[in-house]
Amino acid sequence: MSTFPWSEEYETGNWVIDAQHRRLLELADLLSRAMEAGRTEDVAVEAAAALENYTRYHFAEEEAFFAAIEAPSLARHRRMHASLALDVESMRFNLVSRIPGVGDQLAHWVRACLVPHMQRDDVAALADVRGKTGGAPPADET
Ligand SMILES: [Fe+2]
Repeated sequence: MSTFPWSEEYETGNWVIDAQHRRLLELADLLSRAMEAGRTEDVAVEAAAALENYTRYHFAEEEAFFAAIEAPSLARHRRMHASLALDVESMRFNLVSRIPGVGDQLAHWVRACLVPHMQRDDVAALADVRGKTGGAPPADET
């Protein structure tokens, strides 16, 4: 059982974004397990770095997509992403610095920040532009 299981309630309706969101939860789960299992610190730090890298990758992908479809909320969305990415960076920093409480920080980040962002902000941004994209792949403009 995953610490941060995927739920249908998290679906945004965009399968690429949903697949990346699933991956984010999987990486958060890996990090949580690495810390709980008392694995060597290196393993947990690697897991934190993997989560941070994938978080940045996903946000960049999402922003590129929202820019391409001219989502009105792009600038606001970018600021939210920057803040969320900074939270992950701080978790990794705390882990490396052996500051306690990273497990709680991670659980709070996933449940109180990341998941609400997926359910509220990502869904809203996609709804804003649904008329433009029709929810389907972009048509060939020839
Ligand atoms: Fe987002």
